[in-house]
Amino acid sequence: MKILILFAHPAFQKSTVNKALTDGINLIENVTFHDLYEEYPDMDIDIDREQELLTKHDCIVFMHPMYWYSTPAIFKEWQDLVLEHGWAYGSTGNALLGKLFFLAVTTGAPKEVFQKGEIQNYTVRELLAPLTQTGTFCKMNVIPPFVTHGGLILEGERLLQYKAEYHKLLTHIAQDKLDPEKVKEYEYLNHYIKEV
Ligand SMILES: Cc1cc2nc3c(=O)[nH]c(=O)nc-3n(C[C@H](O)[C@H](O)[C@H](O)COP(=O)(O)O)c2cc1C
Repeated sequence: MKILILFAHPAFQKSTVNKALTDGINLIENVTFHDLYEEYPDMDIDIDREQELLTKHDCIVFMHPMYWYSTPAIFKEWQDLVLEHGWAYGSTGNALLGKLFFLAVTTGAPKEVFQKGEIQNYTVRELLAPLTQTGTFCKMNVIPPFVTHGGLILEGERLLQYKAEYHKLLTHIAQDKLDPEKVKEYEYLNHYIKEV
């Protein structure tokens, strides 16, 4: 399985969590790491190039910090431009049909507060529904997210553990060992990868 990681962090130089998670990611076989802010600092996205990249991969990952319950801005622009009618969706839009799709998201807040009545009021899965539904609408096979919680206080061993689990997951997918139907039973891919 060829994996395309579409990555967006507008202040990567200040990042702790995403910096750790992406460290050495290019060394994983069959993983292409594509940094959208680095490629398109003026948000002048090359649609043909992005579509060609998507076509060449079997698994698409949106990797980003959670910003206002969604993505950093470039991902919105990317979706609006790249996921064209007749290409990604619509009766003749089958370019992404059957590709595996998931989100790799980091949050500032800890998991406990992502529930009704707590400060974030919704689960991460509920908040990210517009993104996962975009994947479904574009005929991709959507699996649960990999979520790194508590980014504001995460460091040391705990952060390295998230990194190890994320890289293990990518290797596992690249080796075509993941059963999409089986992982759909899990809330997060984090829980699945701890068990395999
Ligand atoms: C503009 C902005 C919006 C944010 N929105 C959220 C949010 O909605 N929920 C949340 O848990 N954290 C939020 N955060 C915190 C970031 O998600 C967190 O700092 C980041 O995931 C940590 O990763 P990093 O070290 O790679 O930057 C926000 C941060 C910024 C700068």
